[in-house]
Amino acid sequence: MEHWNIGTLEHNKKRFIILGIETSCDETAASLLEIKHQKNKPSFKILSKVIASQIPIHSKYGGIIPELAAREHIKKIIPVIKKSLTLNPSAIDLIAVTTGPGLITSLLVGVESAKTLAYAWEKPLMPINHLKGHIAVNFINNQPQFPALGLIVSGGHTELVLIKKYNQYKKIGQTRDDAAGECFDKVAKLLGLGYPGGPIISQYAQKAKEVRKEIKLPRPMLNSLDYDFSFSGLKTAVLYLVKKTPCSERNKKLISQICKETQQAIIDVLIKKTLKAAREFNVKSIILGGGVIANKELRIQFSEKIKELKIPAKLLIPAREFCPDNATMIAAAAYFKYINSTNKQIDNLKNNWKKIKANPNLEI
Ligand code: KG4
Ligand code: ZN
Repeated sequence: MEHWNIGTLEHNKKRFIILGIETSCDETAASLLEIKHQKNKPSFKILSKVIASQIPIHSKYGGIIPELAAREHIKKIIPVIKKSLTLNPSAIDLIAVTTGPGLITSLLVGVESAKTLAYAWEKPLMPINHLKGHIAVNFINNQPQFPALGLIVSGGHTELVLIKKYNQYKKIGQTRDDAAGECFDKVAKLLGLGYPGGPIISQYAQKAKEVRKEIKLPRPMLNSLDYDFSFSGLKTAVLYLVKKTPCSERNKKLISQICKETQQAIIDVLIKKTLKAAREFNVKSIILGGGVIANKELRIQFSEKIKELKIPAKLLIPAREFCPDNATMIAAAAYFKYINSTNKQIDNLKNNWKKIKANPNLEI
């Protein structure tokens, strides 16, 4: 238990309640997370988890329209927070809000709402990095061993991070162009399948038994010596493939095969790079997070490959419902930031609503 610094919790509180708020992209979310301490060990209970998804609004356009996202967050933020409050707000010990990275107009709604509540309720407010949330959701009633390697794969990010201990992150690689989720979304759009692309592509992929050899796609940067990724070429390769296929052959069977191959190309690169880093940094855990981690094939193949290559690391994967954006992950990240804070840092949280700002380019 060397990594827990529960003593920093005020009077070593037995029951600690965090309200998480998340509006970085196209989900308006709030969640109450309860942490109880017994024998200096935390146990977590999710008291509420509310998400208002904007997918039906953006799907018409094949991607997120920031202006529409912000307007929808404004409409939904109070009803969502209200619904998440399954207990009297006086019981809340800490408010946690995503301050970045994300769309600035979306972030502002959550940040300003959280600041208002912190002021009105006189509660401490903690700014949270969205990407750390995608990792920290794994720590709810699950213990990693450190050092750990984190792979975050979402619609806006593809990053590999070394995690020395709770809340100590160091980025070692990232995408140089499109994120993996963005690649799923763009390929789905050019195949006319709708938005978001990940779930649709994976459904089509399941229908294809095999992939014709003419449909082979590249695995960008598979063997590069760094831990970076690149996915924009994959989308272009699909575009050329579709263009050179005669219209008469562009049927569901072909679409399913392209989906299977696109999904496999992304999976191959993500797994190979992650396991290479896991070996080189001798990590004891591999922790996955982000919307793309909901992909069933990716989850299965990650586990299989770790076994096959006998990598001595524990694999942590969030339950599928915790892969897309949610506010429980923000509350979880806040808990681990809190217990790793000094008394002075904790003290500074009081009345700090004036200082907290949204930062769309926040780095891990
Ligand atoms: O983490 P997330 O909900 O939002 C961001 O922070 O970006 O990730 C959204 C991304 C989208 O690109 C979506 O297509 C992808 O996650 N995604 C998936 C699946 N479900 C969602 N990608 C592949 N397979 C899935 N089953
Ligand atoms: Zn996300």
